[in-house]
Amino acid sequence: MDNRAEPPWAPSKLAGDTRSADVIVVGAGITGLMTAVLLARAGKDVLVLEARTVGACATGNTTAKISLLQGTHLSKILTRHGSELARAYVEGNREGQDWVVDYCESHGIAVQREDAYTYAQAAKGVPSARRELSACQAVGLPAVWDDDAGVPFPYHGGVRLPDQAQFDPMPFLDALAKELLDRGGRLVERTRVRKVSTRGERVRVHVNDAARRDVELEAGQLVLATGIPILDRGGYFARVKPSRSYCLAFKVPGPITRPMMISTDSPTRSVRYAPVADGERLIVGGAGHTVGRKKSPSKALEELASWARKHYPGAEQTHFWSAQDYTPIDQLPYVGPILPNTETIFVATGFNKWGMTNGAAAAMALAGRILGGRMDWARAFASWSPHELSGLPTALQANLEVGFDLAKGWITPLVRTGRRSPGADEGGVVSGPPWHLEARCRVDGTEHVVSPVCPHLGGIVNWNDADQAWECPLHGSRFAPDGTLLEGPATRDLTA
Ligand SMILES: Cc1cc2nc3c(=O)[nH]c(=O)nc-3n(C[C@H](O)[C@H](O)[C@H](O)COP(=O)(O)OP(=O)(O)OC[C@H]3O[C@@H](n4cnc5c(N)ncnc54)[C@H](O)[C@@H]3O)c2cc1C
Ligand code: FES
Repeated sequence: MDNRAEPPWAPSKLAGDTRSADVIVVGAGITGLMTAVLLARAGKDVLVLEARTVGACATGNTTAKISLLQGTHLSKILTRHGSELARAYVEGNREGQDWVVDYCESHGIAVQREDAYTYAQAAKGVPSARRELSACQAVGLPAVWDDDAGVPFPYHGGVRLPDQAQFDPMPFLDALAKELLDRGGRLVERTRVRKVSTRGERVRVHVNDAARRDVELEAGQLVLATGIPILDRGGYFARVKPSRSYCLAFKVPGPITRPMMISTDSPTRSVRYAPVADGERLIVGGAGHTVGRKKSPSKALEELASWARKHYPGAEQTHFWSAQDYTPIDQLPYVGPILPNTETIFVATGFNKWGMTNGAAAAMALAGRILGGRMDWARAFASWSPHELSGLPTALQANLEVGFDLAKGWITPLVRTGRRSPGADEGGVVSGPPWHLEARCRVDGTEHVVSPVCPHLGGIVNWNDADQAWECPLHGSRFAPDGTLLEGPATRDLTA
């Protein structure tokens, strides 16, 4: 939302003296910036590289509930990994939550303390809400069952966890950026990492700077806090599923629901309020889908907007935004060395849309590891560990789907050729025979034609009519209408 004051910091420039660092952190979301600050506090020379601007991807476009009640996530972790790892997961999230809330309080950043709910919209949603209650109780969270939450939308009972938190993450990121710079760290925006190589003990990082020049940097260690890791080693692109969802803000004439709510049953409804300069807004989130695999996301978005208007009469939409996050195949996040037995390149991914606490926990785990310490709970955040074997069947299933989408992407446009006249309306379409595929779109009257072949591993992009962007159905890379890379594991644009 447009609540953001002028940032209290100015980005660094990629000058001669910026070319090396003890640690390079890639990505200026919550994970990257917090890691960078923790390392800078310990005296490390830290350089943060951000492809776009601070908070441009998930962190600046989240619903920002800072909650230990996380939909039905805990019951899934408990079922798959047992109570010891589930407790460690909650402990990491609790430390992340405390860190973020304390930081906000000590930096004058507004945080609202509210109860969180995981609720059933109908009878079919009750069993999973009940399972979540049992899971919370099994790990010692003081959750209770609530038959009536006093909300204006369908509610069939749910779990309530008192005294959780929510905020606007942008002032938090700004404060982290300022602290990093005050401590002598550097933060360079509009600089995308394209390639990484290792030479001896050092890591070489190849970037395109704001003027799109190739520049080589070097560091002792590298942290990829890029949402999904941008390097293929470790195969993380096959261990997480990219999921995009949408948020709408409304000005509402009547009272706005106070607690933070998320439904167990579909279609998912996520609700919170947000203070803004002229009062409050209702935020609703949902309409989620695997990136690049939904035919027309705008239909689900319209349905979400109608739901909000129906239950909050007179609601007037003021904002729309969207983002994606990554669901790990075995439910637990991947945080640690990119490959076993290395301490040079680190990753942090798989927060399953709960990164306000998981991203903070990941930053603590990574900074601790780089500085030579270790938290007990970090075993629930490992990038390589035996618990991962439990995710193998899901991984096989996910990658069969990816293989299917790869083949479909190359063949379907052939079938479609000549059936639509893409230039006529706004929107995008991929057409042509496999040897000459074309992604053609028209946005605000301007037509763009690019190759639909994703530079990551050759998927064929699809058009997202809600975001007006090209999306790869394989591992979630996204591109602007003119082919410019927005996010995902790809590091290059679609070619013209
Ligand atoms: C719709 C939605 C709602 C959500 N709601 C909640 C919620 O209520 N509570 C909660 O806890 N979590 C929520 N989440 C999840 C949370 O927002 C994310 O888990 C978290 O923001 C991830 O932070 P991050 O720093 O790891 O990644 P990001 O914030 O995505 O940051 C990654 C950064 O890396 C940069 N980058 C990528 N590639 C490169 C490159 N090659 N070179 C340089 N820079 C690069 C990107 O530009 C980006 O700025 C939600 C997620 C979504 C999608
Ligand atoms: S994101 Fe992997 S092939 Fe496109």
